Parts: sequence; C-alpha cells; structure tokens
Amino acid sequence: MARLSVIGTGYLGLTHAVCMASVGHTVVALDIDEAKIAALHNGVIPFHEPGLAQMLVEQLDSGRLAFTTSWQHVADNADIHFLCVGTPQLQGSHAADMSQVFGAVESLAPLLTSPCVVVGKSTVPVGTAQSLADKIISLAPAGQSAHLVWNPEFLREGFAIKDTLHPDRIVLGVQHDVDVDALKDVYETSLEGGTPLVVTDYPTAELVKVAANAFLATKISFINAFADLADTVGADVTTLADAIGHDTRIGRRFLNAGVGFGGGCLPKDIRALQARATELGLAEQFAFLTHVDAINKSRRSRVVDMATDALGGSVSGKDITVLGAAFKPDSDDVRDSPALDIAVTLAGLGANVTVHDPEALHNVRALHPMLSTDDDVLVALANADLVLHLTEWVEYRELDPAVVGSIVNQRIVIDGRNMLDRESWSAAGWQVTYLGKPGSQAAL
Ligand code: UGA
Repeated sequence: MARLSVIGTGYLGLTHAVCMASVGHTVVALDIDEAKIAALHNGVIPFHEPGLAQMLVEQLDSGRLAFTTSWQHVADNADIHFLCVGTPQLQGSHAADMSQVFGAVESLAPLLTSPCVVVGKSTVPVGTAQSLADKIISLAPAGQSAHLVWNPEFLREGFAIKDTLHPDRIVLGVQHDVDVDALKDVYETSLEGGTPLVVTDYPTAELVKVAANAFLATKISFINAFADLADTVGADVTTLADAIGHDTRIGRRFLNAGVGFGGGCLPKDIRALQARATELGLAEQFAFLTHVDAINKSRRSRVVDMATDALGGSVSGKDITVLGAAFKPDSDDVRDSPALDIAVTLAGLGANVTVHDPEALHNVRALHPMLSTDDDVLVALANADLVLHLTEWVEYRELDPAVVGSIVNQRIVIDGRNMLDRESWSAAGWQVTYLGKPGSQAAL
C-alpha cells in the first residue's frame, strides 16, 4: 500500500483523503487552516456530504489517516502528493485564481528530496500542468525524479464517496512516457472494479475536466432554453426531455429544466474555460458559453418575475417561503445557489422571505443574516402567500399538499425544479406553476 499526502482539505481533498485511507493507503492530509485541521483531527467535517463524517471517524480510528499543517511532515511521510486545493473565480474576472495551486507547489517542492509523484487534481486552465511540472523540477532537490501527473477529479457533491471510489473514468496526464504504475497501484481497487483508465498528455487531461463540466452546463442551459419555448407554446419540457433522452446519443441525464445550475464548479468552470480560450485566440469558438451562462442566470430572474406576477404585481410586504437554499440536494453548499440568489433578490424587493433547507441554513444565516430561516419546514411554510420550491430535496416531494395547504395563507406554489406532483398538489387546491410545463390551476 502507498504513502499518500493530500494537500487541501476542501470537498475534493477531504473526500479523496478519506476514501484513499479506506482502500488501505496511509494518508496524511494537509491544510493551512489550523482550526479546520484541529476539527478534522477530532472527526468533525466542515460541510455536509452523506456518509463522509462516519467514514472519516472510521479511517481516523484505523490509524491510516492523519491531518497536519506541516509541509515538512507531508514531505517526509508520503511518496505521492495529491494537490486538491481550490481554484475559485478571480474577483473582477472570469479567470480562475491559481494562487492556491502555485502556493502549494512552492511550499511543497523545495522539501521533495527523494523520488516522488505530485498529482494535480484541482481544476485548472489548460497549460497549468506544464508550468507546475517545470516549477517542481526547478524547486525540488529531487529534480527530474519528482514527477507531475495530471489526474482531474469528477466527483459530484452529494455523491462524493461513490464518485471517488467508483469513478466513471480515471484520467492520468503525463509528460513524455513517464510510467503511471504508482498511480495504477493507488487506484487498484477502482481499476479492478472495471473503471476505464485513460493515459494521455497534460493538456488533454486538463481539458477532459473542463470539457466535461462545460458539456454538462450546456446540456442544462439547452433544456432551459426549451423550457422557455415550451412555456411560450404550451408544451411540456419534461416530456420533451424524456422523449429526446431515449436517444442514447443524447441521454436523459442533466436534462432537468428549472432554476438552473449553481455551485462551486459549473459556473466558474465555464467562465474560466472561456477566459482561457479567449487568451488562446479562440474567443469565437467558445462564445457559446456566454449564452450558456446567460440562459442559466436568466432562470433566476424568471422565477422572480413569476413570483411577482403570482402575487399580483408586487412582492413587497408579502410572505414568501423558499424551500431549499443549497445549490442542489444532499449538500449544504450555497455557493452561487440559484435558490438562495432568488431568496435574496425577493427580500431585496421587500418580500418577507423565510428560507428552509434541511442542511444549508447555517450557511444562509452566516452569509445573509437578514433573511428569516426556520429549521422546521412546516413552521417556515405557515402563513405563506407564496411557496417557491427551488432545491429538490426528497423531503419536499414528500410534503402532504393538504397539510401544507391548511397552514399557508394562499395555496400558490412555483416549482422551480419541476418535481412536485401536479395531480396531488392541484387536487389539494394549489395553483402550481412550473418552468416549461403547462401549470395547474387550483381544483378548489
Ligand atoms: C459538477 C460535476 O457534475 C462533477 O462531475 C464535477 O466533478 C464537479 O462539478 C466539479 O467540477 O468538481 P457538482 O457541482 O457537485 O458537480 O454538481 P452537479 O451535480 O453537476 O450539479 C450542478 C448544478 O446543476 C446543480 O445546481 C443542479 O441542481 C443543476 N442541474 C443538474 C440542473 O439544473 N439540471 C440537471 O438536469 C442537472
């Protein structure tokens, strides 16, 4: 079994560290945030990911997983170092902020005295891996025997463990014909389970990641454009998606119309890709991503307009309950969340907004203390003039529309995820409006 280090204990890094320990490797994970490392050391994770907290405690108990803030400790105790730090969007630009990636390499490389592998997993603009490889060779006492491999990560929040242990593919980008046996050993369990392995060069490996996210984002905006067309002509976008999805060349996944994509990846990755393509003289070829982004953003203003219409022309002074704040279910991540963005906009227009989310309310309170929140969904719904269903947690689909109907002020719901059952909600007297599906008028 290998001795691994993981640099950065965010979503990607922590999940990777815990999962690699679970398959038998010895892992030391580093973060520069001392409070975070202290909490992790005690088995406390700073975000919600199903199953991860329990797995963290198990791996700490196994003795194979440790946390540190010491670069020297990492250099001394691992032969394969995974770079898992963030590449957020730069303030005032569409490009990615690469300071954490270069900072990590500048801290680690001077301590690499013996043969080792540095494995880049962060999402980066194409061309970064080559610069990092050159930097490692110039800074590391081990010189040419410190190799860089580019190994993009494809995990989804909410499915992070499964995606790490059983990914759809493992991509390894290498320079010249450096052998990847050490990485094959690290990923032996997944490879034996049938995960396809793609070994390629640096730029291809870097592009696989951004191309995948750009494709997924494009798929969502594609179906959302059709949602608007469906609304205009009285068609049903869900049936449309089902029908085109039967064509295996198209596929049904990522064709759910609604308030669109958010989170810490898809929005910033399409912007960073476009910024990089523009730098490389390919602005025209990647201009379509401006439209993907614009269609996605327009979903949010569309829901605000629908809410305004539903409340007779103004939301001011009206009680609106927003179901969901996370950018997707099974996550407490509110970065660039459509649901939270809509809630904040409506509050800014004078509505009395109450937000419910099963996991993300602590983040909502920290970021937007002026929004009302309630941990009890029925308390949050009481006396609402309008209900917005914006993150598709299962528990919202399990609400009894008759019970909810008995506590609200008006039975009007806008389903921004096209998931609520039309028949049962309208049978309970609700006026249900979807995005791209003919609405239902109240039966009562
Ligand atoms: C995304 C990719 O799916 C992962 O493969 C990738 O590894 C990750 O980014 C990353 O770059 O790290 P994630 O951000 O966790 O993963 O979320 P997704 O499941 O992709 O969902 C993104 C957004 O699209 C969510 O807001 C979701 O609600 C929305 N979405 C998804 C739709 O609006 N419609 C759909 O049909 C599917």
